[in-house]
Amino acid sequence: MALNPRITDWHGQRVWLIGASSGIGRAVAEALHARGAQVCVSARQPAPLEEFARQHPGSQALVLDATDAAAVATAAQQLLADGPLDLVCYCAGHYQAMRATDIDLPELLRHQQVNVAGALHVLAAVVPALLGAAKAGRAPHLSLVASVAGWRGLPQSLAYGPTKAALINLAEVLFLDLRPHGVGVSVVCPGFVDTPLTAQNAFPMPALITPAQAAQAMLRGWARGDFEMHFPRRFTVILKLLRVLPYRWYFALVHRLTGL
Ligand SMILES: NC(=O)c1ccc[n+]([C@@H]2O[C@H](COP(=O)([O-])OP(=O)(O)OC[C@H]3O[C@@H](n4cnc5c(N)ncnc54)[C@H](OP(=O)(O)O)[C@@H]3O)[C@@H](O)[C@H]2O)c1
Repeated sequence: MALNPRITDWHGQRVWLIGASSGIGRAVAEALHARGAQVCVSARQPAPLEEFARQHPGSQALVLDATDAAAVATAAQQLLADGPLDLVCYCAGHYQAMRATDIDLPELLRHQQVNVAGALHVLAAVVPALLGAAKAGRAPHLSLVASVAGWRGLPQSLAYGPTKAALINLAEVLFLDLRPHGVGVSVVCPGFVDTPLTAQNAFPMPALITPAQAAQAMLRGWARGDFEMHFPRRFTVILKLLRVLPYRWYFALVHRLTGL
């Protein structure tokens, strides 16, 4: 049974994607625009956002830094002044590989700011309006893009992994709190996607998919009413199994598989 109302008809749906100047967010923006949604794309870099808005009639670009709570609130007010939002998706993310043997505190905190505080800024700015829209009979939806890196501790993931684990927990709490009030909530846990974020990875990325494939998987997840979306399944199903292993076996297997 679907945990959320299914979203299958995107015509006229008002969507706000934060972190949509490249990668997965941009691909989702393209896919939803192609299905008839009115898309607003946000991120820090004006050029790619404005290019998107030019190339996709009816869409809009709002430049912002998600770590700036006031800027996020202003952008949300601007969008909500034009009408209710049907989907808000937090895709913004920051990633740099880091090990505990080489701690970089500013980088650690940067991950917390972009990946977690940014999401909280968006929640504070839109949740009251989403609740209002649900009360008025609409079916608004909130999605957080986390990662399989949030499922269990991984090597090189000192800065990134804990932020994604936080987002998964946050989405679970949001579902419990908001779903009874008519707001859909989902969490997206991609495996490896070929984007600027992963371009720095020096190792071969298993089951790497394109941003367009990731976007299609997310559209399918919204259409099914999933709470959790994870893809590509050929990779994420194996990680799901590792998730239930006792620590003794899990740590030994990760050491053996990664050599780290
Ligand atoms: N690629 C993967 O394999 C993978 C796997 C699992 C999860 N994810 C997650 O998927 C999401 C999208 O990542 P991606 O792979 O598509 O990487 P990406 O192409 O680098 O996209 C990240 C987006 O976040 C925006 N962003 C970064 N800092 C921001 C800030 N302070 N304020 C506003 N926007 C900001 C970037 O735009 P600006 O630079 O213009 O601000 C960009 O639009 C991230 O949450 C990432 O953690 C990715």
